[in-house]
Amino acid sequence: MHFLTWILLGIFLLVLGPTVQGAPGQCPSLCHCHGDLQHVICDNVGLKKIPRVSEATQLVNLQRNNLGTIPTGSFSESKGLISLHMQHSQIREIESQAFKGLKKLAYLYLSNNKISSIKPGAFEDLTELTYLYLDGNQISQLAKGIFSPMINLFVLQLNDNKLRELQLGTFTGAKDLRWLHMSGNELTALQPGSLNEVENLALLHLDRNRLSTYPSAAMSKLRVVEELTLGWNPMKIIPDNAFQSFGRYMEKLHLDNMGLEKLSEGAFNGVTAIKLLYLDNNNLTSLPKGLRFTTITNITLSNNPWNCSCQLASLRRWMDSRQNATDAICASPSSQKGKQIRESTALRRCKIKAKQRPKKGPLH
Ligand SMILES: *[C@@H]1O[C@H](CO)[C@@H](O)[C@H](O)[C@H]1NC(C)=O
Ligand SMILES: *[C@@H]1O[C@H](CO)[C@@H](O)[C@H](O)[C@H]1NC(C)=O
Ligand SMILES: *[C@@H]1O[C@H](CO)[C@@H](O)[C@H](O)[C@H]1NC(C)=O
Ligand SMILES: *[C@@H]1O[C@H](CO)[C@@H](O)[C@H](O)[C@H]1NC(C)=O
Repeated sequence: MHFLTWILLGIFLLVLGPTVQGAPGQCPSLCHCHGDLQHVICDNVGLKKIPRVSEATQLVNLQRNNLGTIPTGSFSESKGLISLHMQHSQIREIESQAFKGLKKLAYLYLSNNKISSIKPGAFEDLTELTYLYLDGNQISQLAKGIFSPMINLFVLQLNDNKLRELQLGTFTGAKDLRWLHMSGNELTALQPGSLNEVENLALLHLDRNRLSTYPSAAMSKLRVVEELTLGWNPMKIIPDNAFQSFGRYMEKLHLDNMGLEKLSEGAFNGVTAIKLLYLDNNNLTSLPKGLRFTTITNITLSNNPWNCSCQLASLRRWMDSRQNATDAICASPSSQKGKQIRESTALRRCKIKAKQRPKKGPLH
């Protein structure tokens, strides 16, 4: 009996031993591993600490645990990591040099945590990082140069945080950034020059913030923005030349739900490629003459008090030529009130500055 007990205990330790110890080179406790430790999966297993994983590991999934913090040097033995998943893990703080040694990491997922503090130097060594997801956290401030190690960063997802102001130098070093998502923050201002270091942005999402003036001085160095969203900001006016520096590239512009009262006559200066324009749920009565409709495929105009006079003639011409049932109702003059722009009689006889029509001349 005694002998058998020892044998059973021996087998028990043999089976559990590696997971109990959790040293690098073995699959960590509570996790499961694939492909000779290449993938370490610890999804929703009640972890309170970051497990040690070996140099052979390329992907670690620590989603849905209770980690609290990412301490300095958490991954110092995991130099082979390419993809690190830490969403929904109750993380509040990222300490300085938290990712030290991760010089191959390309994907870092930190969405839907409670991160309010990112210590300076937190992202040291992340020179290969290409995708950084920090959306759904409590971040109110970003230290100057916090992203500076990330010379290859392509996508930065910061939606749904508590950012209040974009400081000068926030994006120093991240010169390859193409997609910047900052929707759903509390931004009241973008400091002049705060986007100068990311002049190659193609996508800039700023909707659902608190910007009450168009941030011209922050945007003026952007060159190739294709998609800009500013919806749900309490902005009354879009000023002249707002999109000029990237107007040749801009295809999508969201200006919906802003309480906009005026698009300045020169607001669309330099805009030559726009396809989608969202202007619904504002307080607009007219469109600027400078807005050219030739490239537009979709436009939203509903819930604005349109003034159905000849200043909307080019819009009407666009509607007529497309047969698109774009919803847009006249609020004035009183004779047109409640009518769809596309049916308004006030716009029927407007003279349009059109391309020269062939003049009636003597027939040959
Ligand atoms: C729309 O603008 C008018 C003045 O132009 C103002 O009286 C009105 O309150 C505004 N409505 C909204 C919803 O902002
Ligand atoms: C453009 O409008 C059409 C018709 O309303 C719609 O089906 C389509 O999804 C729109 N495209 C975009 C990109 O919004
Ligand atoms: C408008 O019509 C064009 C084709 O004439 C189509 O491509 C586009 O999707 C339409 N947009 C809407 C809003 O219906
Ligand atoms: C509508 O436009 C006409 C012609 O430009 C102008 O005289 C009139 O004051 C405008 N009405 C409103 C309510 O903006």
